Amino acid sequence: MVSVIGDDEIATSLPQRYYISEEQFAEDVEKIWKRQWLYAGHVSQVKSPGDFFTFTLLNESLIIVRARDNRILALHNVCGHRGMRLCEGAGRARRIVCPYHSWSYSTEGELLTASQQQGELTLDRSELALKRTQVSVWQGLIFVNFSPEPLPDVEDIVGPEGTAAMARLEPEKMKIVHTDVYSTKANWKLLLENGVECYHCPTVHEEFCEVLDPAAMTGYYADDYSAKLVQELVIPIQYGKDSLTLTGNLASRKLLGDFGRGVPIPPDYSGTGFMTQPGYAWGDFHPDHAMIATCNPTGPTSSEFAASWLVHEDAVEGVDFEVEDVIGLWATTHPQDATTLARQQAGIGSSAYKPGPYSARAEPGITLALDLYRQMLGER
Ligand code: FES
Ligand code: FE
Repeated sequence: MVSVIGDDEIATSLPQRYYISEEQFAEDVEKIWKRQWLYAGHVSQVKSPGDFFTFTLLNESLIIVRARDNRILALHNVCGHRGMRLCEGAGRARRIVCPYHSWSYSTEGELLTASQQQGELTLDRSELALKRTQVSVWQGLIFVNFSPEPLPDVEDIVGPEGTAAMARLEPEKMKIVHTDVYSTKANWKLLLENGVECYHCPTVHEEFCEVLDPAAMTGYYADDYSAKLVQELVIPIQYGKDSLTLTGNLASRKLLGDFGRGVPIPPDYSGTGFMTQPGYAWGDFHPDHAMIATCNPTGPTSSEFAASWLVHEDAVEGVDFEVEDVIGLWATTHPQDATTLARQQAGIGSSAYKPGPYSARAEPGITLALDLYRQMLGER
């Protein structure tokens, strides 16, 4: 059997070390996770100046904050004095005050007061400011990256078509109504591979397939998927269904964008969304709600998988929607993937594992995704 790692024509899954080795994992973090756009959160989490939340990728932590001039900034969450992690969770602050010796910073990251060292500091204060990383806010969705070289803005990568499809739903006017975090004992690339094929959908996701069109999903990865760092994603639902919910009916009465102003939902409308790659995150948007999932690496054989569900910012729980209806479909589907991938990881760890052939018809998305992965590793 030849491997996708060789120069041969048959695409196969990766050799074992790509899924289990500490060295490979460290290389993946440096060359992939710290060189791509990562979905960090939604603008509703930082509505007013001073609002912040923290975003974590392994050892890195960022404070995502709305500055006084309304820009959204990403500041490294590391005190300039002796390295304390400044903020945890989310909140609102006029100044960021270190919980160790009380140095304080503005919401733009400038050092304001150095506590008992005020008269003592000889260093240029700008040297002690919180370091910033690049932020791109696309349609109300906040992306960050740790790349030393700036990346093109998310909108420039997604392109006008994907941006217009998203703008139609006005996702910046949404709010998060529920978040779940799942852990799975699987390498992050298994989450990526699983996400860009629907070969497994009929076997693993009975409920999903009641609403999804799995053949169209497979066709989508064959025809419309391009493995850019960020791209549009459409999850094709069956003709006549309004939304990707357990029933195929709307889960929230307060509709988004055009649909909220009375435009009828076309029977063949499947919504829109986005994907980031190789480090995988995806957003699935319909006329009434959205789900955004991020697959964060936690080790060579473990990942964390966080899902947030959003509805229109004015939708009222108990009147316009019930949380269980909004989350039902993905809250059923995500644990199925988490369980499946842990079991796949267990098999890959065996001495009997060897790379197996991808289906050219049903798994072309994986070949494209792993091509981008290998390019970023410098192997292509
Ligand atoms: Fe922050 Fe000392 S580590 S003030
Ligand atoms: Fe799945």
